[in-house]
Amino acid sequence: MKIFQHVQDIGDLRVALAEAQEVKRDRYQWQHLGKNKTALLIFFNNSLRTRLSTQKAAMNLGMNVIVLDVNQGAWKLETERGVIMDGDKSEHLLEAIPVMGSYCDVIGVRSFARFENRKDDYEEKILNQFIKYSGRPVFFMESATVHPLQAFADLITIEEHKRSARPKVVMTWAPHPKSLPQAVPNSFAEWMLAADVDFVITHPEGYELDPQFVKGARVEYDQMKAFEGADFVYAKNWSCPGVTRPEDYGKVLHDYHTMMDWCVSARQMAITNDAAFLHCLPVRRNMIVTDDVIESPRSLVIPEAANREISAQVVLKRMLEAL
Ligand code: CP
Repeated sequence: MKIFQHVQDIGDLRVALAEAQEVKRDRYQWQHLGKNKTALLIFFNNSLRTRLSTQKAAMNLGMNVIVLDVNQGAWKLETERGVIMDGDKSEHLLEAIPVMGSYCDVIGVRSFARFENRKDDYEEKILNQFIKYSGRPVFFMESATVHPLQAFADLITIEEHKRSARPKVVMTWAPHPKSLPQAVPNSFAEWMLAADVDFVITHPEGYELDPQFVKGARVEYDQMKAFEGADFVYAKNWSCPGVTRPEDYGKVLHDYHTMMDWCVSARQMAITNDAAFLHCLPVRRNMIVTDDVIESPRSLVIPEAANREISAQVVLKRMLEAL
């Protein structure tokens, strides 16, 4: 594997899920693969789970790991070509990327949507420069549009906890005070549509996700109707993707105080098929989900986060095998 961005990059999902279980049985059995190999993890944005789980996965494989927080200690980076660099940015990404590539064997990058320009975000301007100029395999640790390590971990969790062959999985928008990217819901939709599940998306009008990720998905604007008979509820906020009104890209369309009935509570969970609750974390309690739901025995947020180590290890293992 040279790039990990989309669900297609992992190949057959049944094979990938079986490999995840093989990793769980003994995560230290491939230490020889990572000997004298270095993973460089580059963060343009904050992280708890991605940072720790990916570092742990690399160490499980016997790799050395370097973590760089670009905005804390590195030179401030210019990303645009043609700019006269007389401001506060001392180094250009076009030099920084090949230099970083020269110190490692694989690169993971986290760079969120900037919300300055929808086209730049949706063309993955930053990550594509890493693919083009690093000379190394690149895996996405949440980019402007996707978070595949999260979606793979979500799928592993659903597979482990499903009670029927083809469970109903509902992804619901939930309120949030800030403008959040669409990377998590985009990837979750992409992976669920490729998996053997009955997938439904529910959100208020105006939050339609980009068709490249949700084409073929059922969208139900009535949240209660969507929740009926659900086996899994996946909650997430996202800002306006700007599909129908590009001028609204990245905006929060409603005052969140008026949207609090979208917060996942016992009211909605009562009409599900005793659904399990999922969220990628970090989560704002009593905005996205109530205390009682996230603390209930049906909440899987902790095993879901633990599976981030497993999804990262499968991806790193595949990259090491292809070096
Ligand atoms: N879910 C997730 O990616 O968590 P972090 O932002 O803490 O890495």
